[in-house]
Amino acid sequence: MNHKRGFASDNNSGVHPSVLAAMSSVNEGHFVAYGDDPFTESAIGKIKKEFGEDAEVFFVFTGTAANVLGLKASTENWNSIICADTAHIHCDECGAPEFFTGCKLLTVSAPDGKLTPDLLKKHMHGFDFEHHSQPGVVSITQATELGTVYTVPEIKEVCDYAHSLGLLTHMDGARICNAAASLGVSFREMTAGAGIDVLSFGGTKNGLMYGEAIIFFNSSLSRNFKYIRKQGMQLASKMRYIAAQFEAMLTGRLWYNNASHANKMACLLAEEVSKIPGIDLTQKVQINGVFAIVPPEIVPELQKEYFFYVWDEATSEVRWMTSWDTTEEDVMGFVKLLRNKMG
Ligand SMILES: Cc1ncc(COP(=O)(O)O)c(C=O)c1O
Repeated sequence: MNHKRGFASDNNSGVHPSVLAAMSSVNEGHFVAYGDDPFTESAIGKIKKEFGEDAEVFFVFTGTAANVLGLKASTENWNSIICADTAHIHCDECGAPEFFTGCKLLTVSAPDGKLTPDLLKKHMHGFDFEHHSQPGVVSITQATELGTVYTVPEIKEVCDYAHSLGLLTHMDGARICNAAASLGVSFREMTAGAGIDVLSFGGTKNGLMYGEAIIFFNSSLSRNFKYIRKQGMQLASKMRYIAAQFEAMLTGRLWYNNASHANKMACLLAEEVSKIPGIDLTQKVQINGVFAIVPPEIVPELQKEYFFYVWDEATSEVRWMTSWDTTEEDVMGFVKLLRNKMG
């Protein structure tokens, strides 16, 4: 078994011990299933404290499910969903958003992963024209798949623009904790406060075993969501184990400690690798991801010791992700290896 530590993904790390302990702490006795238990109520209460009392919260198992079902609740099947060409919903969900919503995904090329009103303009036409998929939702990812972060005014600008044309807004927040830690702003400011209608609130990449939450800030979208979640096969019978993880994550700012540590390790990695002649960073390092161009011939040798993914074969751009459990030794060991291979 290869259990070498690496920089492939924040999904590759383990579960934070406090999260495991929280799961174990709800393991005594019998509780009503499907979310009608005190642990789910408590965790939802904690989430509402962060996001606002009006938020409607639904737990699901995966980030893909959170995105797909949140989008399903926000669309009719004749709508289009507009996103960056790097969006997880476009690149990495096996067509599930199209399959479950029936919508057309329209992409925008965004070199840093971030949408702007200007970039969105090209898809804002054909309103009321029955031959054209009706623009329905703008989906942004915070933090982006390229490790960049939208500022609150940038999110607001996109949301205001979408709303002015009658569209709704979705945020894929698989790494929203990393973004919040990076910006030093609250979850609420970045979401409801900026005009987001529905959020996929990620937990898994920040030290949970599994579990994400769909959070609606627009109550008209959540009215029938319990049926959508059930039909979408994401109603957990033993929901208390997801709830316990969110409870742990939102207790004592564990989410912040995990995310800011991962971010700090990426900054260290970026700082150190950029001292090596011939290594060029391709994106700003704002969360826990570093993107760089590395000579293709040394990539397999590096991967043998510290596994990571090539992001773009054509340019030999690689992605190095850090995690809540990445250590300075991991980073410095990798930097040393990279320096040696670069000669
Ligand atoms: C930006 C983003 N959104 C959503 C997801 C959700 O993925 P999963 O369905 O694997 O939990 C991921 C996981 O890599 C991601 O990077």
